[in-house]
Amino acid sequence: MNILQDLKHLKHISLPTRPVICKCLIIVIGLIVLRAIVSPFLAINSSEKSFYESATLDLFPGVRKDKFVEVPQIIWGLNNQKIAFARACLTAKYLNRSLLMPSLSASLFYKEVDLLQPITFDKVFDFNKFNARCHGFARLARYSEVSNHTEPFILQKGSGRRWTVERDLDQLQQSRLGVVDGSEVIHITGKHPFLWPDHWPVKDYARIFECLALAPEVETEVVKVISKIREAGRKARHEAAISHNKNKMDGLTDLPVQYIAVHMRIEKDWMIHCKKWEQRSNLNEICSSKGEIIHKVSQITDLRRPVVVYLAVADGLLEDDSVTSGWRVGMIAYEKKKLGVTTIYDRQPYLIKSAIDFERSYISWGRQAHAVRMLACRPMHTMSLEMMAAHSDG
Ligand SMILES: *[C@@H]1O[C@H](CO)[C@@H](O)[C@H](O)[C@H]1NC(C)=O
Ligand SMILES: *[C@@H]1O[C@H](CO)[C@@H](O)[C@H](O)[C@H]1NC(C)=O
Repeated sequence: MNILQDLKHLKHISLPTRPVICKCLIIVIGLIVLRAIVSPFLAINSSEKSFYESATLDLFPGVRKDKFVEVPQIIWGLNNQKIAFARACLTAKYLNRSLLMPSLSASLFYKEVDLLQPITFDKVFDFNKFNARCHGFARLARYSEVSNHTEPFILQKGSGRRWTVERDLDQLQQSRLGVVDGSEVIHITGKHPFLWPDHWPVKDYARIFECLALAPEVETEVVKVISKIREAGRKARHEAAISHNKNKMDGLTDLPVQYIAVHMRIEKDWMIHCKKWEQRSNLNEICSSKGEIIHKVSQITDLRRPVVVYLAVADGLLEDDSVTSGWRVGMIAYEKKKLGVTTIYDRQPYLIKSAIDFERSYISWGRQAHAVRMLACRPMHTMSLEMMAAHSDG
């Protein structure tokens, strides 16, 4: 399936008509093997920091630091917000401008504007790290950098059938010239940035995603959840050691604790969508049943069992307690409650919750697979497990 085409259909995918939830378990978006106790959770690593601060930066001018693009509030689910954010970055890059740090939405509501809970980008992602990693490619700016010498230029995006991709690109091209280019801020209005026609190659989106790192406060929460999972893994290993021949297991206890995180989508709107999608595309792999998920996960052959299977699924959406049962021998399923991490999540708004679950996956998948998944916006399980396994060292 054409990835770019998928990208254009993204808006339909997790568009939450209402965060209404179905009790059945529908889909695995993702599935991961975390392999070693590398420490992917360090804050800004020192080389990145010094690079960011280094004066040699100006050897690579990149986008202008005194011209800005401002975009509308970014909305919907985490993945969609990341894609919208990337599109905004690439639009700004095209105009050779810095993107004024956009406002994301902490909640899933999209029609009830007052329920959106705007949240600034740097509450979720690391601002400095973004600019360090994307240096020379794209740049985020803070509002305090704007001198307000000139009025912002309002760039009104069109919509509807007559607003073609060509017209949209033409409008952007015109904005690189003359008066518009002279204005300090180009304020883009109209539809959500996600709905602007897409003009950029997939690899450019991937480049932006690679620059996204969680804000330190969110990272801290991720570390907590992972340590709980590891603890559960050690316990499972210990119990297995007791019930088996001890000598045989001795060597194992020194090895890093592995786990699999299975990210499940269980929203009703998704289920309706994926069924339709299956019909349209003549594929039957888009929606998965629990049985299929268990089967696929159990096919990962290079896992040392017992292994913890962490079901990254919002417990509030989970009316079916049976998700943790029925797994194969040596695969011990945990959800948030059983793992004892509900308090970590309960404190957080929707977006951060997703970021905690999602970015953990990100770490173990490797960036490339992650970006591909986001762009294709296809559930990970439609990719082969071999492919995922190949990325698990990433
Ligand atoms: C952006 O503007 C800077 C400064 O004018 C220039 O050096 C750079 O080449 C421009 N980049 C692009 C991609 O046009
Ligand atoms: C310019 O205006 C923005 C928005 O009103 C404000 O946040 C920013 O601090 C202003 N910049 C300066 C240098 O006054």
